[in-house]
Amino acid sequence: MSSGDSFYITTPIFYPSDVPHIGHGYTEVAADVLARWHRQAGDDTWLLTGTDEHGQKMLRTAAAGGMTPGEWADRLVAESWIPLLKTLDIANDDFIRTTQPRHESGVQAFVSKLHDDGYIYTGEYEGYYCVGCEEYKQQSELVEGTGPFEGQLVCAIHSKPVELLQERNYFFRMSDFQEKLLALYEARPDFVQPESARNEVVSFVKQGLADLSISRSSFDWGIPIPWDSDHILYVWFDALLNYATAVGYGVDEKNFERRWPGVQLVGKDILRFHAVIWPAMLMAAGLEVPKHVFAHGWLLVGGEKMSKSKLTGIAPEQITDVFGSDAFRYYFMRAITFGQDGSFSWEDLSARYQAELANGFGNLASRVTAMITRYCDGVVPAEALPTDADLVVRRTVEKAVADSDAAIERFAIHEAIAAVWTIVDELNGYITEQEPWVLAKNPANRDRLSTVLYTAAEGLRALAVLLSPVIPKATAKLWTSLGAEQSVGALADQRLREAGRWGVLPAGSTVTKLEALFPRIEQEVEDAAAPTPAA
Ligand code: MSP
Repeated sequence: MSSGDSFYITTPIFYPSDVPHIGHGYTEVAADVLARWHRQAGDDTWLLTGTDEHGQKMLRTAAAGGMTPGEWADRLVAESWIPLLKTLDIANDDFIRTTQPRHESGVQAFVSKLHDDGYIYTGEYEGYYCVGCEEYKQQSELVEGTGPFEGQLVCAIHSKPVELLQERNYFFRMSDFQEKLLALYEARPDFVQPESARNEVVSFVKQGLADLSISRSSFDWGIPIPWDSDHILYVWFDALLNYATAVGYGVDEKNFERRWPGVQLVGKDILRFHAVIWPAMLMAAGLEVPKHVFAHGWLLVGGEKMSKSKLTGIAPEQITDVFGSDAFRYYFMRAITFGQDGSFSWEDLSARYQAELANGFGNLASRVTAMITRYCDGVVPAEALPTDADLVVRRTVEKAVADSDAAIERFAIHEAIAAVWTIVDELNGYITEQEPWVLAKNPANRDRLSTVLYTAAEGLRALAVLLSPVIPKATAKLWTSLGAEQSVGALADQRLREAGRWGVLPAGSTVTKLEALFPRIEQEVEDAAAPTPAA
């Protein structure tokens, strides 16, 4: 991308039927890292997240808790879902709730248009419905239940019984879009990513598309169908539209044009809704399809998708209370290949925290700033003529900027961080070899000492910019400690794609003491690791 381009990215909107676990946090962090990256690069960025509040799942959970679904959602959103953003340091630009009037009116305008244009008709439907997925299931997606559900058919994802439903509904002519969708996947191979997700979607659509039942009349928790108030809209049809209503669909054409189309980041379990139904809906309305739909993998526990309903959910604060939000963000983005499943383990988190964040990056930052304080009275020295070793550092920084930005374009967040980490490794090796503490002993080496410390400080300056999307708290502290706030300007104003330009941190910047960025964790990790079943 070039600076200034529009970059609109969304997370799925979450069911606030229950509290968040780290699987939800994972989606939020990934979207936030991508958004912060583009924002730092000067792109016209917008990050949307929110909650999906209609449907049977919400209705039933609220009833079980003795509340109306509206009250239930208000409570969970205020007490758990908004606080999650703070817990994980998410810099979202908007938060949409599907019960907001701005969404409901946009949705009604959209379905009315589809109805007027002949894409909606009345029909009968009979099928197995999974309330957990809020979706009709094919026979092939069901398995034999076990334990209390023995002898019943259960959803393969939720392991809970499905319900046989028969209804007179409104249908969306999705079958009309089979060829157009296949042509889209063909013409734009990067529309659905990663490759494995694309293949799955293509073979699914090749098998043929049925029309989609988009209304329900057996309960009323949803958006009324504008021309028939006995029906409410199917929750997924309503929910998918949040990506459009949040940026002004139907009310603020100027804003809609500025943001749309965006990138939809989703978990692989909800890929088909986003890569099949959603683009078909948009095509029917004559709107552009998303730029990309990227499906990330699942966080697994014992080889299965972590989930509250299976009592394997870990609350995000269990991690952030011990390690901090930066470590949460870094760990999940670095340790799991983005687009594939990954197993979370406390041991791995702890080991990476110690080796990579505390010893690799944190120590580097404190050693360099401490040496500038000690040997140069806290003033960044001017560099003299660079040697080959110094030039290698510069080239490493330049290459890391290009490689990491290219990786982000491919949604390879783990590769982007690995590319940036080449600077951490290079600088650590450089300092070990150059031995500034030895140079400091002999005044004849003054110029050399200055060059080495300048090179290290300037490398840290680039690292602060490049890592700010991933570990915003630590990089903000480092930026202040380097004196860059005064001598260079706000960290937020540093253009990421130009972070490889050498010599930005001026000699004369005043370095101040840096507290440990990633302090030793005193608490036994086992304490934190004790599994706490869902509340
Ligand atoms: N409400 C729908 C999405 C509507 S979008 C128009 C929904 N909500 S959800 O709360 O069940 O899930 C939201 C997201 O969390 C999904 O992307 C899902 O993949 C993700 N995750 C839930 N559990 C997860 C893991 N164990 N691991 C990774 N992501 C997981 O679906």
